[in-house]
Amino acid sequence: MVNAPTGEARLGQTEQVQALDRDCTTLSRHVLQQLHSFSADAQDLSALMSRIGLAAKLIARRLSRAGLMEDALGFTGAVNVQGEIGRYSLLYDPIDGSSNLDINLNVGSIFSIRKQEGDDEDGSAADLLQHGHKQIAAGYVLYGPSTMLVYSIGQGVHSFTLDPSLGEFILSTENIKIPDNGPIYSVNEGSFWQWEESYRDYIRYVHRNQGYTARYGGALVGDFHRILFQGGVFLYPGTVKNPDGKLRLLYESAPLAFLMEQAGGRASTGIQDILDVVPTKIHERTPLIIGSKENVALVESFIKERSRNPITLSE
Ligand code: F6P
Repeated sequence: MVNAPTGEARLGQTEQVQALDRDCTTLSRHVLQQLHSFSADAQDLSALMSRIGLAAKLIARRLSRAGLMEDALGFTGAVNVQGEIGRYSLLYDPIDGSSNLDINLNVGSIFSIRKQEGDDEDGSAADLLQHGHKQIAAGYVLYGPSTMLVYSIGQGVHSFTLDPSLGEFILSTENIKIPDNGPIYSVNEGSFWQWEESYRDYIRYVHRNQGYTARYGGALVGDFHRILFQGGVFLYPGTVKNPDGKLRLLYESAPLAFLMEQAGGRASTGIQDILDVVPTKIHERTPLIIGSKENVALVESFIKERSRNPITLSE
């Protein structure tokens, strides 16, 4: 029996490209539109974004075979956090949340682009040891039911969905804005007794008040993506033993903070905006409170209250 071809299968390659031109904005076209320029800098940045898109497609393809191919996940241990391409430095965390891979759940890539400074052609680590406002672009790729790439070059936050039949990232939402307040709180409550008391105060508040709902997937990109689209707050606090927490400033917290601020939200360590933090080393960690403006401010208010009154609040 011969199945009738689907609409998509009936289209030849030329028609597919024409359909694409008519109806869709691809990632590379969007980047060029955003840059409004054909300067060497703009072309470099656009080339870099295309390479990030290509890397995302390759990772997505390989992940889609996980479980079928031996060693399909063999690359998860590799950390490639820093590379220099021409005038730019790219920080790239290829598989964030890799423990989710063992059970076929979502993972993500996170990237951050900074301009090289100084005369050293190959750039230097000193270029990276600066506050997060120095980022000129940032984004992530979410490998979920579909593969999504979300990015900003400082002019809003835009999301793209990978169309596997075309092999292209197609614009799905432009100028994403996070609500000022949201119902979701996302945190690993298993660490409750390791946190500073102020975070326990916040969680107790959430438990006692209606309207909150907990969501935690254990992989930063997925958890962040939910907060970005639905509002609320993601927290990864420090603990008494590790006051800086687990997340890495340069290739986890800072790029997501850049996106969050572009979307109208906030990102804080609890006492300082994430984008103001100047790292002293490449793999520096930082506590992270990120999401809707009002939710982040509420968490900060508990931290402030504890610093003013360390022992007056009863458990
Ligand atoms: O930093 C890696 C990471 O897997 C993040 O993607 C995620 O948010 C976090 O660690 C999860 O940590 P935990 O297992 O302690 O909740």
